[in-house]
Amino acid sequence: MPIKKAIIPVAGMGTRFLPAAKAQPKEMLAVVDKPVIQYIVEEAVASGIEEIIFVTAIGKRAIEDHFDRNFELEYRLEQKNKIKELESVKALGKLAKFAFVRQSKPLGDGHAVLSALPFVNRDEPVAVLFGDDIIDGKVPALKQLMDAYEKFHNPVVALQKVPRKDVSSYGVIGGKAVTKSIWDVRKFVEKPAVADAPSDLIVIGRYILTPEIMALLPLVEPGKDGEIRLADAFDAYLKGDGSLYGCVFDGTRYDCGNRLGFLKAQIELGLKHPEIGKDLRKYLKTL
Ligand code: G1P
Repeated sequence: MPIKKAIIPVAGMGTRFLPAAKAQPKEMLAVVDKPVIQYIVEEAVASGIEEIIFVTAIGKRAIEDHFDRNFELEYRLEQKNKIKELESVKALGKLAKFAFVRQSKPLGDGHAVLSALPFVNRDEPVAVLFGDDIIDGKVPALKQLMDAYEKFHNPVVALQKVPRKDVSSYGVIGGKAVTKSIWDVRKFVEKPAVADAPSDLIVIGRYILTPEIMALLPLVEPGKDGEIRLADAFDAYLKGDGSLYGCVFDGTRYDCGNRLGFLKAQIELGLKHPEIGKDLRKYLKTL
């Protein structure tokens, strides 16, 4: 069954971006001229996703407005003959079919996905994209995962090789390589100590979940911090002998979940921007 639906959890408070994220969702902070969340949605749509379920919380209304029509703004842009701007705002509402569901309590990424599951068919695979990572590349990262799913008909996680010293902030996998970019995952360890990490391949916030994983999620016990983690569902799935694949995607990832990654995204995507890239490069050289 082709994957047409994606879940994007956006309920997090964005504490790492305070005070910038006090009165606006951190997902709405702009990188060059688009909010971070737009890059994620565009990646999903370019991969073939047609329906997007946002898992939101209090204070996230701006995300709903961003992907809706704004007739007054459209009318004014039309009056002023600002056609390019008009097209850019009109296009947002047509990117996909959007639905919004609330996560009642901040109980982890697994709990966020659980909140959206009543709106996903039981026999339907679904994509999950976390709101922090912008991935820039020729083929959208999610599309690369979907291609792996088409081939193996099992859940898929996005992988990236990082220096070993950096693995402890992520899910880390162990397994064996099937091709240059595809791994048969045997272990999924959440935030291990460097010495205990099964490899230097970390899991990035892009997943293809199958009905088997979705059936396990409600059974996951909350961790010590009270959170229900997607990572624990994968761990339980592997312990139950399930097959899981990892896709080392081709593309550059910007971790917009922290300030430095966010600034790197501004600079690198700014340099690539057709209108301001050249001048930004000139300016950076003067520093
Ligand atoms: C989550 C996942 C982790 C993954 C990471 C990717 O962690 O639990 O497995 O590697 O996202 O960004 P978090 O960043 O929510 O702590």
